[in-house]
Amino acid sequence: MDTAHTPQLVVALDFPAVQPTLEVARQLQNIVPWCKVGMELFTLAGPAILNELAGMGFKIFLDLKFYDIPNTVARAVQAAGLAGVHMLTLHCQGGERMCRAAVEAAASLSSPPMLFGVTVLTSFAVGEMPGIQAEPGAFALMLARSAAQWNLDGVVCSGHEAAAIKKISPSLRCLCPGIRPTGSNNNDQRRVMTPAAAVRAGADFLVTGRPITAADDPQEAALRITKEISLTAQSTLKE
Ligand code: C5P
Repeated sequence: MDTAHTPQLVVALDFPAVQPTLEVARQLQNIVPWCKVGMELFTLAGPAILNELAGMGFKIFLDLKFYDIPNTVARAVQAAGLAGVHMLTLHCQGGERMCRAAVEAAASLSSPPMLFGVTVLTSFAVGEMPGIQAEPGAFALMLARSAAQWNLDGVVCSGHEAAAIKKISPSLRCLCPGIRPTGSNNNDQRRVMTPAAAVRAGADFLVTGRPITAADDPQEAALRITKEISLTAQSTLKE
């Protein structure tokens, strides 16, 4: 890992309304570099929320998991890029033509967003993926290999898969949700990792929501996590 790739923290702003989103965002300005806007917030607040958050200095991760015909996804990628989005998600299961169309659309922009492929949703258990017999972990690795071939910038994966993905493709970035500092509530997450463990596993972006947004002091919670990330990254560099 080189210093240019010091892992970065992404706070998931999963709120059912704009006001609490902005209240917490204000507390995290200049502490957390990235914020994630997902389906819930984007659907209720629209693109205006992206401008508000970017105006506060956040880099924007738009997590809408695009999955459609290549032309539609390419246009959505362009629209997101023009709206100032720095990173977005699309489903690897949309296939090669869809993913390559997205890559081409991003490359046509003056500020291309990074594209992250969703491999297998972590909510799938064995046998639950319609029409797919493969075990979810093996299927996710196969899709990560494809994501690298199709020139996506990275994949969304659990911290538990990051090391195996880095072995397949060291330059493919890993964005890992389910980050839980030691002692915090796992909520509905099952395959969690501490910030330090995720950094050691090779995560490039660590996504965490409730351990920050539901904390009594979100600012203090975020500072503690960013410190854990940077200390672990430094010690990993020295190894
Ligand atoms: O609050 P919490 O830290 O669990 O939030 C994690 C965020 O990461 C949520 O926005 C969730 O939708 C997202 N996510 C996830 N697991 C995935 C993909 C995304 O938890 N596999």
